[in-house]
Amino acid sequence: MAKVKKIAVLRGDGIGSEVVTEALKVLEKCESLFDVKFEIEEGLFGGIAIDEAGSPLPSSTLELCKKADAVLLGAVGGPKWDNNPKELRPETGLLALRKELGLYSNIRPAVVFDCLMDASTIKPEVLKGTDMIVVRELTGGIYFGDKFRKDTAEGQVAVDTCAYSESEVERIVTQAFEIARKRNKKLASVDKANVLETSRLWREVVEKVATDYPDVELEHVLVDNCAMQLLRRPASFDVIVTENMFGDILSDEAAMLTGSIGMLSSASLGEGSFGLYEPVHGSAPDIAGEQLANPIATILSLALMFQLSFDEQEIASTIEKAVKKVLDDGNRTSDIAVSPESKLTTSQMGDAIVEAMGTV
Ligand code: IPM
Ligand code: MG
Repeated sequence: MAKVKKIAVLRGDGIGSEVVTEALKVLEKCESLFDVKFEIEEGLFGGIAIDEAGSPLPSSTLELCKKADAVLLGAVGGPKWDNNPKELRPETGLLALRKELGLYSNIRPAVVFDCLMDASTIKPEVLKGTDMIVVRELTGGIYFGDKFRKDTAEGQVAVDTCAYSESEVERIVTQAFEIARKRNKKLASVDKANVLETSRLWREVVEKVATDYPDVELEHVLVDNCAMQLLRRPASFDVIVTENMFGDILSDEAAMLTGSIGMLSSASLGEGSFGLYEPVHGSAPDIAGEQLANPIATILSLALMFQLSFDEQEIASTIEKAVKKVLDDGNRTSDIAVSPESKLTTSQMGDAIVEAMGTV
């Protein structure tokens, strides 16, 4: 008998609900193809939770996530809540969820699919072979340091504090070395050690951890230079590890290199096998409810869930192969479509992937 995996599902806002619906179809198909069973429970999260429960992260949702083996998240946010006070913003709920669940490591693969090479703004010869993972520290740094304002003779002054402890750096860097060891054994550690004290500590810790990984080739790259190198030699990167805010910025840049942000998945991990999985893209309120969204990023996030939380490599690879087959067959949602005739709706794309899972 299959062990039942508990998955907490947070649809969130905008296109979140539509893309999650397609991912749930894929889970159902997994139950019919493999010896797995899921117990799925949905929770309110983000803007919709502000509207319906008065908080972006209601305590019932947090409890639901804590009891689950993994969390699947759609997307949060939208103009409706943009001018709300801090505690009533969807993003505040997202940061609290990461912190409460101890998800200090954010893994964002940026892979160029050969058949979508033309979707990128970068020349194909520069882009060819690009396949990297950005490992972003997720629960420290300037995102979580003290923040305040004070009145001074020069008017108001606002302060955001960036702090990192050795142990916070060590655990994320160790994980990045482990990932690099299983891939092409190249790690780029990104910092601003020529200016920031946190970066100088970061670099020291990286050097220390590196002694345990002599098989991994390490380079230190300053963040401004890294932004440039990503455009100049994207295919030369394997694993990038960096602190919270640099990772936020660079992972968007890496994602856009591929030209298809609707295709990119992510995992947020802590200690143990528990993880939160979500597409890299946002809630895209402008196209919400129109069946225009690409569900592939969310479906590939499920593949990551099987790979990293459930250790079900065969299921992960079935999902990935199904996505590849559907794309190779020319199926496209509007974000990656070449001609209007070939366009599939969100739900048609989900159905095509589910069908392909039975044949790959
Ligand atoms: C991301 C997002 C979030 C972040 C926002 C929505 C708070 O940009 O997941 O990259 O900055 O971490
Ligand atoms: Mg971001």
